Amino acid sequence: MHFDEERRKSIAELGADDDLRRRALEWLTDVSRKKYSYHFDWLGRPIIQFPQDIVASQEIVWKTRPDLIIETGIARGGSLVLWASLLEMMGGEGRVLGIDIDIREHNRAAIEAHHLSRRISMLEGSSVDDGIAGKVREIASEYKRVMVVLDSMHTHEHVLKELQLYAPLVTVGCYLLVFDTIIEFLPDDYFPDRPWGRGNNPYTALQEYLKTCRRFELDREMEDKLLITVAPGGYLKCIGE
Ligand SMILES: C[S@@+](CC[C@H](N)C(=O)[O-])C[C@H]1O[C@@H](n2cnc3c(N)ncnc32)[C@H](O)[C@@H]1O
Repeated sequence: MHFDEERRKSIAELGADDDLRRRALEWLTDVSRKKYSYHFDWLGRPIIQFPQDIVASQEIVWKTRPDLIIETGIARGGSLVLWASLLEMMGGEGRVLGIDIDIREHNRAAIEAHHLSRRISMLEGSSVDDGIAGKVREIASEYKRVMVVLDSMHTHEHVLKELQLYAPLVTVGCYLLVFDTIIEFLPDDYFPDRPWGRGNNPYTALQEYLKTCRRFELDREMEDKLLITVAPGGYLKCIGE
């Protein structure tokens, strides 16, 4: 059997293995209690992601070659540097636009001092603010291949608004990544001190949004092969105008 075909088959088997999926979720649930996703850096900047999702990001960027990656939620800048590094390695002039309601001065300074900073722009303000969204739309209009990553506030209302504002900017063939959909699958009492939880999170927002928008197709194979991901249902390919 050809390598690609064999690989597709074993990925599908993995995705259909309910016991492995259950154990993967159990593992993810337990390590997240120890703040696992906060433990990694990307080229010197803390990134709040699972290594599996970082590898998936690399595959997606390589395959789809966006020339602009927009991300809501900067934190310490690791993910902006990740996108910039992938664009840098591919050559070309690809750029990254990050939006955060609170860009701490030391984080901004470290991102601006990074050797990949020439590819990165940042906007400070709420991602659901009309002024910010307008600026993002204006910038995006200058690019041909736009990818969008949502990783800011994880409540249903916020992510739904972000989807309404930013999903339309994704161009055909590129991806919309909605992180932390995993919240829907974690125990009820998992986030006692957060405004989000089961029934109120990026997953529920995405399901509501997808009822009204047919431009996106779930990349099922991605989550089947990752098994461990914070974005189940959140890897979406734009298939229509
Ligand atoms: C999970 S962190 C982002 C992690 C980052 N993408 C990474 O992988 O390293 C979430 C960020 O969203 C920001 N945030 C919260 N509410 C926001 C809002 N209304 N608009 C934009 N950003 C917001 C927070 O300030 C925080 O930095």
